[in-house]
Amino acid sequence: MNLEGKVAVITGSAVRIGRAMALTLADAGVDVCIHYHLSQAAAEQTCNEIRERGRNATRVSANLSDPETAAAVIFEAAMTEFGKVDILINNASVFENKSLTDTTEADWDSHLDINLKSPFFLCQRFAKLLPPRQTGQIVNIVDWRAQRAGKEHLAYRISKAGLVTLTECLALELAPAIQVNAIAPGAILPPPGEDLSYLEQRAQKVPLKRAGSPAEICNTLLYLLRSDFVTGEVLTVAGGEQLTGGLG
Ligand SMILES: NC(=O)c1ccc[n+]([C@@H]2O[C@H](COP(=O)([O-])OP(=O)(O)OC[C@H]3O[C@@H](n4cnc5c(N)ncnc54)[C@H](OP(=O)(O)O)[C@@H]3O)[C@@H](O)[C@H]2O)c1
Repeated sequence: MNLEGKVAVITGSAVRIGRAMALTLADAGVDVCIHYHLSQAAAEQTCNEIRERGRNATRVSANLSDPETAAAVIFEAAMTEFGKVDILINNASVFENKSLTDTTEADWDSHLDINLKSPFFLCQRFAKLLPPRQTGQIVNIVDWRAQRAGKEHLAYRISKAGLVTLTECLALELAPAIQVNAIAPGAILPPPGEDLSYLEQRAQKVPLKRAGSPAEICNTLLYLLRSDFVTGEVLTVAGGEQLTGGLG
């Protein structure tokens, strides 16, 4: 896809990796709808930085715990501002370190609603809105943990495994109009509430002996969006951590 003049919706893009992807796409000539939940000031700041790069931006708040309503609100905002959407990036996520014994029903529901059910309804709406004979791209942000068994982050892992399956099913369902791919990051940023020592510890167990950076996720995103013959793929960007399951 030639990215110049395209429009992207990115969930959870006020801060962190989502924000980095939004600015990267703006540099590549894309107008961006910044979805956020609570980070309103940061969303406005990210929009301003996109406008400084000469692209258009709008922001919309929606709680992905209410998936169908949120999908409607997000696409309504993007269509009102831009009149079209070419790219959907499902990035917003919750990430709790809970196992079988301490996962509550509320934990289960929030992970499945935000990390899996919302991407499903956003993809459904995106596909419905794409005019005939136009092409589109969906990129789902998963995690290497989605493809490895493990005892921790159980609801998270299951939600991201579902998102991998959704990626593959929709790549078939929506071809040839829409390509659907996923990026599986490893240790990129410490989870909210953790400091850099979290990443330093993780890095010791990464075969490439370092953490990654948002820029490395952004480069992978650009590769996927510019690759017209790739669909149903999960690209892991984790320094080899997926090979050891985080055990070093
Ligand atoms: N960080 C890493 O090293 C790493 C590693 C592996 C995979 N990943 C994946 O990469 C993606 C980005 O990671 P990240 O660490 O940058 O994400 P993050 O900061 O944990 O979350 C991104 C955004 O999700 C939004 N969000 C959370 N709950 C929401 C809700 N109920 N409704 C709407 N939005 C909600 C938040 O928006 P507001 O701030 O506006 O509330 C948040 O800023 C995620 O899919 C994550 O699973 C990240």
